[in-house]
Amino acid sequence: MASTSYSTMSYVLLLSLFLSSIMVTFAGNLNNDFEITWGDGRANILNNGELLTLSLDKASGSGFQSKNEYLFGKIDMQLKLVPGNSAGTVTAYYLSSKGSTWDEIDFEFLGNLSGDPYILHTNVFSQGKGNREQQFYLWFDPTADFHNYSITWNPQRIIFSVDGTPIREFKNSESIGVPFPKNQPMRIYSSLWNADDWATRGGLVKTDWTQAPFTASYRNFNAEACIWYSGASSCASSSASSASSSWLAQELDITGQEMLTWVQKNYMIYNYCTDTKRFPLGFPPECNTS
Ligand SMILES: *[C@@H]1O[C@H](CO)[C@@H](O)[C@H](O)[C@H]1NC(C)=O
Ligand SMILES: *[C@@H]1O[C@H](CO)[C@@H](O)[C@H](O)[C@H]1NC(C)=O
Repeated sequence: MASTSYSTMSYVLLLSLFLSSIMVTFAGNLNNDFEITWGDGRANILNNGELLTLSLDKASGSGFQSKNEYLFGKIDMQLKLVPGNSAGTVTAYYLSSKGSTWDEIDFEFLGNLSGDPYILHTNVFSQGKGNREQQFYLWFDPTADFHNYSITWNPQRIIFSVDGTPIREFKNSESIGVPFPKNQPMRIYSSLWNADDWATRGGLVKTDWTQAPFTASYRNFNAEACIWYSGASSCASSSASSASSSWLAQELDITGQEMLTWVQKNYMIYNYCTDTKRFPLGFPPECNTS
């Protein structure tokens, strides 16, 4: 295991070297960073690249992906979710690599009847294996306004945050044999689709198509990330000054730990690490580390 931490360490050093040499701006025009991948006119980048919208109607949904692939980063996006009766709809916003042993870091927003709470569903896949769901209610109405959803991904940990409040931390547990996403560059993907067979109250509430089209909106994308170009990585930041490499070694400070505890105590509604029915023979090893 010493060799693992050694190579992680040298990796970070290498990235830091890149950091000192290359600084590029990535905030701004969504046209620079994303492309619409499907949806036949239901997805649009508007207002000179300030706003992106995805829609779902009875025919189909829509989606977009990042032009770049990233290997580690702090990736922020503001989302405003489908308002009103969004039951049956799912808005997925995630990072994923390719291939049969892919890595993936997921935010999924499960819609609901007007006034009933969305579920924020999270998951982490490493080497093609997921089954690490945690679900949350939010402490605000995610359809009333834009809110920041962030993924901080570095060689030691993945931190999911909402408006700067950490809601989940997935630590690197390679030392106890759990693969961690750290070798495969990932793209950002998002899509809005119909999942009324399972999304709302486990599939009991169906999509009300008289409310279509359903629309989710995106703005203020910001990535301080290492971008993958044909086999090599270079790290860039939106703020050309700054101690902007801090996310590469970021961990939760005391305040962050307290906020995480607050969210997990008050808003977490499902945690695979406490689901004894699902894991009668014992929880996955990473569950014992946090
Ligand atoms: C989201 O983050 C940006 C940049 O960090 C900040 O300016 C903005 O106020 C945040 N918005 C919300 C809704 O938290
Ligand atoms: C929808 O609302 C119901 C009733 O409050 C709740 O049980 C459920 O968790 C909510 N969210 C989803 C996505 O089903």
